[in-house]
Amino acid sequence: MQTKEFKLRRNELLKRLGPSSVAIIFAAKECVRSGKVKYPYRQNSDFYYLTGFIEPESIAVLISGRGEGEFILFNRERDCAKEIWYGECIGQKRACSEFGADQAFAISEVDKILPQLLAGRDNVYFNVGFDHDFDQKVTFWLNQTYSKESSEAERPYLLGNLNNILHEMRLKKSKSEIAIIRKAAEITAKGHLRAIEKCRPGMYEFELEAELLYEFVRLGGRHEAFETIVAGGQNACTLHYSKNDKKLLDGELVLVDAGVEYQYYCSDVSRTFPVNGRFNPKQRAIYEIVLNAQVEVIKQVRPGVKWDYLQLTAERAITGGLIELGLLEGERERLVVKQDFKPFFMHKIGHWLGLDAHDVGEYSVDDKWRVLEAGMVFTVELGIYISPEIHDIDHKWLGIGVRIEDDILVTENGCEVLTKAVPKDVAEIEVIMHK
Ligand code: GLY
Ligand code: MN
Ligand code: MN
Repeated sequence: MQTKEFKLRRNELLKRLGPSSVAIIFAAKECVRSGKVKYPYRQNSDFYYLTGFIEPESIAVLISGRGEGEFILFNRERDCAKEIWYGECIGQKRACSEFGADQAFAISEVDKILPQLLAGRDNVYFNVGFDHDFDQKVTFWLNQTYSKESSEAERPYLLGNLNNILHEMRLKKSKSEIAIIRKAAEITAKGHLRAIEKCRPGMYEFELEAELLYEFVRLGGRHEAFETIVAGGQNACTLHYSKNDKKLLDGELVLVDAGVEYQYYCSDVSRTFPVNGRFNPKQRAIYEIVLNAQVEVIKQVRPGVKWDYLQLTAERAITGGLIELGLLEGERERLVVKQDFKPFFMHKIGHWLGLDAHDVGEYSVDDKWRVLEAGMVFTVELGIYISPEIHDIDHKWLGIGVRIEDDILVTENGCEVLTKAVPKDVAEIEVIMHK
Protein backbone atom coordinates (compact mmCIF):
# COMPACT_ATOMS: atom_id res chain seq x y z
CA MET A 1 0.00 0.00 0.00
CA GLN A 2 1.46 3.36 -0.96
CA THR A 3 1.91 6.27 1.46
CA LYS A 4 -0.30 8.45 -0.72
CA GLU A 5 -3.29 6.15 -0.27
CA PHE A 6 -3.06 6.55 3.50
CA LYS A 7 -2.91 10.32 3.01
CA LEU A 8 -5.99 10.26 0.78
CA ARG A 9 -7.86 8.36 3.49
CA ARG A 10 -6.83 10.87 6.17
CA ASN A 11 -7.95 13.74 3.95
CA GLU A 12 -11.27 12.04 3.25
CA LEU A 13 -11.85 11.41 6.95
CA LEU A 14 -11.09 15.02 7.84
CA LYS A 15 -13.44 16.19 5.10
CA ARG A 16 -16.22 14.02 6.53
CA LEU A 17 -15.53 15.21 10.10
CA GLY A 18 -15.82 18.84 9.05
CA PRO A 19 -14.03 21.99 10.19
CA SER A 20 -12.50 22.41 13.63
CA SER A 21 -12.42 18.64 14.26
CA VAL A 22 -9.82 16.41 15.85
CA ALA A 23 -9.65 12.64 15.49
CA ILE A 24 -7.56 10.65 17.95
CA ILE A 25 -6.66 7.09 16.95
CA PHE A 26 -4.84 4.76 19.31
CA ALA A 27 -2.51 1.97 18.21
CA ALA A 28 -3.37 -1.51 19.49
CA LYS A 29 -1.94 -2.43 22.86
CA GLU A 30 0.64 -5.18 23.23
CA CYS A 31 -0.83 -8.18 25.06
CA VAL A 32 0.92 -10.54 27.42
CA ARG A 33 0.41 -14.21 26.67
CA SER A 34 2.20 -15.59 29.71
CA GLY A 35 5.03 -14.29 31.88
CA LYS A 36 7.26 -12.18 29.68
CA VAL A 37 5.99 -13.67 26.44
CA LYS A 38 3.66 -11.51 24.40
CA TYR A 39 1.17 -12.37 21.69
CA PRO A 40 2.40 -11.43 18.22
CA TYR A 41 1.66 -7.75 17.83
CA ARG A 42 -1.07 -6.79 15.38
CA GLN A 43 -1.81 -3.14 14.71
CA ASN A 44 -5.35 -1.87 15.24
CA SER A 45 -7.10 -1.93 11.86
CA ASP A 46 -8.38 1.67 12.04
CA PHE A 47 -4.89 2.87 12.93
CA TYR A 48 -3.35 0.90 10.09
CA TYR A 49 -6.01 2.08 7.63
CA LEU A 50 -5.18 5.72 8.31
CA THR A 51 -1.41 5.58 8.80
CA GLY A 52 0.18 2.33 7.58
CA PHE A 53 2.20 2.59 10.82
CA ILE A 54 2.59 -0.72 12.63
CA GLU A 55 4.44 0.04 15.86
CA PRO A 56 2.70 -0.18 19.24
CA GLU A 57 2.62 2.77 21.69
CA SER A 58 1.55 5.19 18.98
CA ILE A 59 -1.24 7.73 18.80
CA ALA A 60 -2.31 9.42 15.57
CA VAL A 61 -4.01 12.80 15.76
CA LEU A 62 -5.75 14.30 12.74
CA ILE A 63 -6.78 17.95 12.91
CA SER A 64 -8.78 19.56 10.14
CA GLY A 65 -7.43 22.83 8.80
CA ARG A 66 -4.42 23.05 11.14
CA GLY A 67 -1.79 25.35 9.65
CA GLU A 68 1.26 23.42 10.95
CA GLY A 69 -0.12 20.22 9.43
CA GLU A 70 -3.10 17.97 9.89
CA PHE A 71 -1.38 14.66 10.77
CA ILE A 72 0.48 14.48 14.07
CA LEU A 73 1.99 11.21 15.21
CA PHE A 74 3.14 10.32 18.71
CA ASN A 75 5.40 7.29 18.58
CA ARG A 76 8.29 5.53 20.28
CA GLU A 77 11.64 7.25 20.46
CA ARG A 78 14.57 5.45 18.94
CA ASP A 79 16.65 3.57 21.51
CA CYS A 80 19.84 1.82 20.35
CA ALA A 81 19.93 -0.55 23.32
CA LYS A 82 16.37 -1.77 22.65
CA GLU A 83 16.92 -1.96 18.92
CA ILE A 84 19.69 -4.52 19.49
CA TRP A 85 17.01 -6.81 20.91
CA TYR A 86 13.89 -5.94 18.96
CA GLY A 87 15.08 -4.46 15.69
CA GLU A 88 14.54 -1.07 14.18
CA CYS A 89 12.22 1.55 15.57
CA ILE A 90 10.95 4.14 13.12
CA GLY A 91 11.36 7.18 15.38
CA GLN A 92 10.11 10.70 14.77
CA LYS A 93 12.24 11.65 11.76
CA ARG A 94 11.15 8.73 9.59
CA ALA A 95 7.56 9.04 10.81
CA CYS A 96 7.56 12.33 8.89
CA SER A 97 9.72 11.39 5.90
CA GLU A 98 8.27 7.91 5.26
CA PHE A 99 4.80 7.91 6.80
CA GLY A 100 3.73 11.42 5.90
CA ALA A 101 3.32 12.78 9.43
CA ASP A 102 3.42 16.58 9.44
CA GLN A 103 4.86 16.48 12.93
CA ALA A 104 5.99 13.57 15.10
CA PHE A 105 6.63 13.64 18.82
CA ALA A 106 7.88 11.09 21.33
CA ILE A 107 4.96 9.21 22.87
CA SER A 108 6.27 10.30 26.30
CA GLU A 109 5.33 13.89 25.34
CA VAL A 110 1.70 13.16 24.62
CA ASP A 111 0.20 14.37 27.91
CA LYS A 112 1.95 17.69 27.50
CA ILE A 113 1.27 18.31 23.81
CA LEU A 114 -2.10 16.75 23.07
CA PRO A 115 -4.19 19.04 25.33
CA GLN A 116 -2.69 22.00 23.45
CA LEU A 117 -3.77 20.42 20.18
CA LEU A 118 -7.33 19.97 21.46
CA ALA A 119 -7.74 23.48 22.81
CA GLY A 120 -9.80 25.71 20.59
CA ARG A 121 -11.26 22.89 18.44
CA ASP A 122 -14.98 22.27 18.39
CA ASN A 123 -15.24 18.49 17.91
CA VAL A 124 -13.16 15.62 19.23
CA TYR A 125 -13.69 12.14 17.78
CA PHE A 126 -12.28 8.82 18.93
CA ASN A 127 -13.39 5.22 19.41
CA VAL A 128 -15.48 5.98 22.50
CA GLY A 129 -15.96 3.08 24.91
CA PHE A 130 -13.64 0.64 23.13
CA ASP A 131 -10.96 0.65 25.82
CA HIS A 132 -11.26 2.01 29.34
CA ASP A 133 -7.65 3.28 29.37
CA PHE A 134 -8.16 5.19 26.13
CA ASP A 135 -11.40 6.73 27.45
CA GLN A 136 -9.54 7.85 30.56
CA LYS A 137 -6.68 9.34 28.58
CA VAL A 138 -8.98 11.41 26.40
CA THR A 139 -10.89 12.57 29.47
CA PHE A 140 -7.60 13.57 31.08
CA TRP A 141 -6.46 15.52 28.00
CA LEU A 142 -9.83 17.22 27.73
CA ASN A 143 -9.67 18.14 31.41
CA GLN A 144 -6.33 19.80 30.79
CA THR A 145 -8.02 22.06 28.26
CA TYR A 146 -10.57 22.92 30.96
CA SER A 147 -7.82 24.22 33.23
CA LYS A 148 -8.12 27.57 34.96
CA GLU A 149 -5.99 29.32 32.39
CA SER A 150 -8.01 28.31 29.36
CA SER A 151 -11.07 30.30 28.44
CA GLU A 152 -14.50 28.79 27.81
CA ALA A 153 -14.03 29.32 24.08
CA GLU A 154 -11.03 26.99 24.01
CA ARG A 155 -12.88 23.90 25.19
CA PRO A 156 -14.09 21.35 22.65
CA TYR A 157 -17.82 20.91 23.06
CA LEU A 158 -18.60 17.77 21.10
CA LEU A 159 -17.18 14.36 21.86
CA GLY A 160 -18.07 12.09 18.99
CA ASN A 161 -17.61 8.46 18.07
CA LEU A 162 -15.25 8.05 15.16
CA ASN A 163 -16.47 4.58 14.22
CA ASN A 164 -19.57 5.43 12.23
CA ILE A 165 -17.72 7.75 9.88
CA LEU A 166 -14.46 5.83 9.60
CA HIS A 167 -16.04 2.40 9.26
CA GLU A 168 -18.30 3.59 6.49
CA MET A 169 -15.10 4.50 4.62
CA ARG A 170 -13.56 1.08 5.29
CA LEU A 171 -16.59 -0.73 3.92
CA LYS A 172 -15.91 0.03 0.26
CA LYS A 173 -12.53 -1.20 -0.87
CA SER A 174 -10.12 0.66 -3.14
CA LYS A 175 -8.30 -0.91 -6.09
CA SER A 176 -5.15 -1.48 -4.06
CA GLU A 177 -7.11 -3.00 -1.18
CA ILE A 178 -8.85 -5.34 -3.61
CA ALA A 179 -5.48 -6.37 -5.03
CA ILE A 180 -4.27 -7.36 -1.55
CA ILE A 181 -7.51 -9.14 -0.64
CA ARG A 182 -7.22 -11.01 -3.94
CA LYS A 183 -3.74 -12.17 -2.93
CA ALA A 184 -4.99 -13.21 0.54
CA ALA A 185 -7.76 -15.18 -1.17
CA GLU A 186 -5.27 -16.80 -3.53
CA ILE A 187 -3.01 -17.97 -0.68
CA THR A 188 -6.01 -19.16 1.32
CA ALA A 189 -7.28 -21.12 -1.69
CA LYS A 190 -3.92 -22.84 -2.08
CA GLY A 191 -3.90 -23.80 1.58
CA HIS A 192 -7.37 -25.32 1.34
CA LEU A 193 -6.48 -27.18 -1.82
CA ARG A 194 -3.46 -28.68 -0.13
CA ALA A 195 -5.61 -29.78 2.83
CA ILE A 196 -8.08 -31.49 0.48
CA GLU A 197 -5.24 -33.26 -1.32
CA LYS A 198 -3.45 -34.40 1.83
CA CYS A 199 -6.42 -35.59 3.88
CA ARG A 200 -6.39 -39.32 4.81
CA PRO A 201 -8.33 -41.34 7.40
CA GLY A 202 -6.38 -41.71 10.64
CA MET A 203 -4.75 -38.30 10.47
CA TYR A 204 -5.36 -35.97 13.38
CA GLU A 205 -7.22 -32.72 12.83
CA PHE A 206 -4.04 -30.82 13.73
CA GLU A 207 -2.10 -32.68 11.06
CA LEU A 208 -4.50 -31.42 8.44
CA GLU A 209 -4.26 -27.96 9.99
CA ALA A 210 -0.47 -28.17 9.58
CA GLU A 211 -0.81 -28.86 5.84
CA LEU A 212 -2.92 -25.78 5.42
CA LEU A 213 -0.69 -23.53 7.54
CA TYR A 214 2.39 -24.82 5.77
CA GLU A 215 1.02 -23.47 2.52
CA PHE A 216 -0.08 -20.18 4.09
CA VAL A 217 3.34 -19.45 5.60
CA ARG A 218 5.25 -20.70 2.56
CA LEU A 219 3.36 -18.22 0.42
CA GLY A 220 4.03 -15.24 2.68
CA GLY A 221 0.96 -15.38 4.92
CA ARG A 222 2.50 -15.85 8.36
CA HIS A 223 -0.68 -15.03 10.25
CA GLU A 224 -4.10 -16.58 10.24
CA ALA A 225 -7.05 -14.22 9.91
CA PHE A 226 -8.67 -16.17 12.81
CA GLU A 227 -8.10 -19.45 14.60
CA THR A 228 -8.20 -22.29 12.07
CA ILE A 229 -11.05 -24.75 12.40
CA VAL A 230 -10.46 -28.38 11.41
CA ALA A 231 -13.52 -30.25 12.59
CA GLY A 232 -13.95 -33.95 11.87
CA GLY A 233 -17.38 -35.64 12.09
CA GLN A 234 -19.74 -34.14 14.61
CA ASN A 235 -17.17 -31.54 15.71
CA ALA A 236 -18.35 -29.64 12.64
CA CYS A 237 -21.62 -28.97 14.49
CA THR A 238 -19.70 -26.65 16.84
CA LEU A 239 -19.52 -23.52 14.72
CA HIS A 240 -16.24 -22.19 16.11
CA TYR A 241 -14.63 -25.52 17.04
CA SER A 242 -10.90 -24.95 17.45
CA LYS A 243 -9.49 -27.79 19.55
CA ASN A 244 -8.38 -29.58 16.37
CA ASP A 245 -7.11 -32.57 18.37
CA LYS A 246 -9.28 -35.53 17.28
CA LYS A 247 -8.58 -38.29 14.80
CA LEU A 248 -10.21 -37.96 11.38
CA LEU A 249 -12.18 -41.12 10.80
CA ASP A 250 -12.94 -43.10 7.67
CA GLY A 251 -16.56 -42.44 6.71
CA GLU A 252 -16.78 -38.98 8.32
CA LEU A 253 -16.72 -35.52 6.82
CA VAL A 254 -14.22 -32.86 7.84
CA LEU A 255 -15.01 -29.16 7.90
CA VAL A 256 -12.08 -26.78 7.40
CA ASP A 257 -12.65 -23.06 8.01
CA ALA A 258 -9.47 -21.03 7.63
CA GLY A 259 -8.05 -17.92 6.05
CA VAL A 260 -4.80 -16.09 5.87
CA GLU A 261 -4.10 -12.50 6.77
CA TYR A 262 -1.90 -11.03 4.07
CA GLN A 263 -0.53 -7.49 4.39
CA TYR A 264 -3.20 -6.89 7.04
CA TYR A 265 -6.12 -8.02 4.84
CA CYS A 266 -8.09 -11.18 5.54
CA SER A 267 -9.55 -14.08 3.68
CA ASP A 268 -12.07 -16.55 5.15
CA VAL A 269 -12.98 -19.81 3.44
CA SER A 270 -14.77 -22.99 4.52
CA ARG A 271 -14.84 -26.29 2.76
CA THR A 272 -16.28 -29.62 3.87
CA PHE A 273 -15.14 -32.89 2.34
CA PRO A 274 -15.13 -36.62 3.08
CA VAL A 275 -12.11 -37.83 5.04
CA ASN A 276 -11.82 -40.90 2.78
CA GLY A 277 -12.45 -38.99 -0.43
CA ARG A 278 -16.01 -40.26 -1.15
CA PHE A 279 -19.25 -38.69 0.07
CA ASN A 280 -21.77 -41.28 1.27
CA PRO A 281 -25.39 -40.69 0.12
CA LYS A 282 -26.50 -38.99 3.37
CA GLN A 283 -23.49 -36.69 3.45
CA ARG A 284 -23.91 -35.91 -0.21
CA ALA A 285 -27.59 -35.09 0.21
CA ILE A 286 -26.89 -32.53 2.95
CA TYR A 287 -23.80 -31.21 1.17
CA GLU A 288 -25.68 -30.56 -2.05
CA ILE A 289 -28.41 -28.60 -0.30
CA VAL A 290 -25.77 -26.32 1.20
CA LEU A 291 -23.85 -26.04 -2.06
CA ASN A 292 -26.91 -25.28 -4.19
CA ALA A 293 -28.10 -22.70 -1.69
CA GLN A 294 -24.67 -21.06 -1.52
CA VAL A 295 -24.40 -20.91 -5.32
CA GLU A 296 -27.94 -19.49 -5.49
CA VAL A 297 -27.07 -16.71 -3.04
CA ILE A 298 -23.87 -15.83 -4.90
CA LYS A 299 -25.86 -15.62 -8.15
CA GLN A 300 -27.97 -12.84 -6.62
CA VAL A 301 -24.99 -10.65 -5.68
CA ARG A 302 -24.77 -7.41 -7.65
CA PRO A 303 -24.99 -3.67 -6.97
CA GLY A 304 -28.45 -2.61 -5.83
CA VAL A 305 -29.34 -5.87 -4.06
CA LYS A 306 -30.28 -5.57 -0.41
CA TRP A 307 -28.41 -7.55 2.22
CA ASP A 308 -31.54 -9.12 3.69
CA TYR A 309 -32.56 -10.45 0.25
CA LEU A 310 -29.42 -12.61 0.28
CA GLN A 311 -30.33 -13.88 3.74
CA LEU A 312 -33.86 -14.69 2.62
CA THR A 313 -32.59 -16.45 -0.52
CA ALA A 314 -30.41 -18.67 1.68
CA GLU A 315 -33.19 -19.41 4.16
CA ARG A 316 -35.59 -20.39 1.37
CA ALA A 317 -33.07 -22.66 -0.36
CA ILE A 318 -31.97 -24.40 2.84
CA THR A 319 -35.55 -24.81 4.06
CA GLY A 320 -36.62 -26.25 0.68
CA GLY A 321 -33.79 -28.78 0.81
CA LEU A 322 -34.56 -29.80 4.39
CA ILE A 323 -38.22 -30.36 3.44
CA GLU A 324 -37.18 -32.62 0.55
CA LEU A 325 -35.09 -34.75 2.90
CA GLY A 326 -37.92 -34.95 5.43
CA LEU A 327 -35.96 -33.02 8.05
CA LEU A 328 -38.62 -30.30 8.07
CA GLU A 329 -42.32 -30.70 7.38
CA GLY A 330 -44.70 -28.08 6.09
CA GLU A 331 -45.01 -25.35 3.53
CA ARG A 332 -41.69 -23.67 2.70
CA GLU A 333 -42.65 -20.00 3.05
CA ARG A 334 -44.42 -20.61 6.35
CA LEU A 335 -41.39 -22.46 7.72
CA VAL A 336 -39.11 -19.62 6.60
CA VAL A 337 -41.31 -17.02 8.31
CA LYS A 338 -41.31 -19.15 11.49
CA GLN A 339 -37.51 -19.56 11.15
CA ASP A 340 -37.92 -23.32 11.61
CA PHE A 341 -34.59 -23.91 9.83
CA LYS A 342 -32.75 -22.35 12.80
CA PRO A 343 -31.84 -25.61 14.60
CA PHE A 344 -29.95 -26.58 11.42
CA PHE A 345 -28.78 -23.21 10.06
CA MET A 346 -28.33 -20.77 12.91
CA HIS A 347 -25.87 -18.19 11.60
CA LYS A 348 -26.10 -15.32 9.14
CA ILE A 349 -25.12 -15.76 5.52
CA GLY A 350 -21.86 -13.89 5.90
CA HIS A 351 -20.02 -10.78 6.97
CA TRP A 352 -17.95 -7.94 5.52
CA LEU A 353 -14.32 -8.84 4.92
CA GLY A 354 -11.25 -6.61 4.89
CA LEU A 355 -8.69 -5.53 7.48
CA ASP A 356 -10.71 -7.63 9.92
CA ALA A 357 -12.13 -11.08 9.16
CA HIS A 358 -15.47 -9.86 10.47
CA ASP A 359 -14.91 -6.44 9.02
CA VAL A 360 -16.46 -3.18 10.13
CA GLY A 361 -19.47 -1.56 8.49
CA GLU A 362 -23.17 -1.61 9.24
CA TYR A 363 -25.55 -4.12 7.65
CA SER A 364 -28.44 -1.72 7.87
CA VAL A 365 -28.53 2.06 7.73
CA ASP A 366 -31.36 4.15 9.25
CA ASP A 367 -33.30 0.92 9.87
CA LYS A 368 -33.07 -0.06 6.20
CA TRP A 369 -31.00 -2.98 4.97
CA ARG A 370 -27.74 -2.07 3.26
CA VAL A 371 -27.79 -2.01 -0.53
CA LEU A 372 -24.75 -3.64 -2.13
CA GLU A 373 -22.30 -1.43 -4.03
CA ALA A 374 -19.32 -2.25 -6.23
CA GLY A 375 -16.16 -2.53 -4.12
CA MET A 376 -17.78 -4.18 -1.12
CA VAL A 377 -16.26 -7.51 -0.12
CA PHE A 378 -17.99 -10.10 2.02
CA THR A 379 -18.27 -13.81 2.70
CA VAL A 380 -21.14 -16.02 1.68
CA GLU A 381 -21.15 -18.89 4.14
CA LEU A 382 -23.99 -21.31 4.37
CA GLY A 383 -24.25 -24.43 6.44
CA ILE A 384 -26.36 -27.23 7.80
CA TYR A 385 -25.39 -28.62 11.17
CA ILE A 386 -27.26 -31.63 12.51
CA SER A 387 -26.10 -31.76 16.09
CA PRO A 388 -26.36 -35.09 17.94
CA GLU A 389 -28.33 -33.06 20.52
CA ILE A 390 -31.29 -32.75 18.14
CA HIS A 391 -33.69 -35.52 19.22
CA ASP A 392 -36.79 -35.44 17.08
CA ILE A 393 -35.35 -36.44 13.70
CA ASP A 394 -34.27 -39.65 11.99
CA HIS A 395 -31.01 -40.62 13.73
CA LYS A 396 -29.27 -41.42 10.46
CA TRP A 397 -28.63 -37.68 9.95
CA LEU A 398 -27.11 -36.95 13.34
CA GLY A 399 -23.56 -35.61 13.51
CA ILE A 400 -23.38 -34.30 9.96
CA GLY A 401 -22.08 -30.73 9.73
CA VAL A 402 -21.39 -28.91 6.48
CA ARG A 403 -20.29 -25.33 5.79
CA ILE A 404 -19.24 -23.84 2.47
CA GLU A 405 -17.83 -20.30 2.47
CA ASP A 406 -16.36 -18.09 -0.23
CA ASP A 407 -15.09 -14.51 -0.42
CA ILE A 408 -17.10 -12.33 -2.79
CA LEU A 409 -16.27 -8.97 -4.38
CA VAL A 410 -19.21 -6.90 -5.63
CA THR A 411 -18.34 -5.63 -9.13
CA GLU A 412 -20.08 -3.11 -11.41
CA ASN A 413 -22.10 -5.85 -13.11
CA GLY A 414 -22.38 -8.60 -10.56
CA CYS A 415 -19.72 -10.22 -8.46
CA GLU A 416 -16.49 -12.11 -8.47
CA VAL A 417 -15.82 -15.14 -6.30
CA LEU A 418 -12.27 -14.43 -5.12
CA THR A 419 -11.84 -17.93 -3.72
CA LYS A 420 -13.22 -19.92 -6.63
CA ALA A 421 -9.91 -21.79 -6.99
CA VAL A 422 -10.94 -24.03 -4.08
CA PRO A 423 -13.12 -26.80 -5.49
CA LYS A 424 -16.59 -27.32 -4.03
CA ASP A 425 -18.41 -29.56 -6.52
CA VAL A 426 -18.77 -33.12 -5.26
CA ALA A 427 -17.25 -34.70 -8.36
CA GLU A 428 -14.34 -32.26 -8.42
CA ILE A 429 -13.50 -32.89 -4.76
CA GLU A 430 -13.68 -36.65 -5.23
CA VAL A 431 -11.37 -36.56 -8.25
CA ILE A 432 -8.76 -34.49 -6.41
CA MET A 433 -8.88 -36.76 -3.37
CA HIS A 434 -8.34 -39.88 -5.47
CA LYS A 435 -5.45 -38.60 -7.56
N1 GLY B 1 -14.32 -18.38 10.58
C1 GLY B 1 -15.25 -17.50 11.11
C2 GLY B 1 -16.30 -17.19 10.15
O1 GLY B 1 -16.45 -17.88 9.17
O2 GLY B 1 -16.99 -16.24 10.26
MN1 MN C 1 -16.77 -16.19 7.81
MN1 MN D 1 -14.97 -18.83 8.13
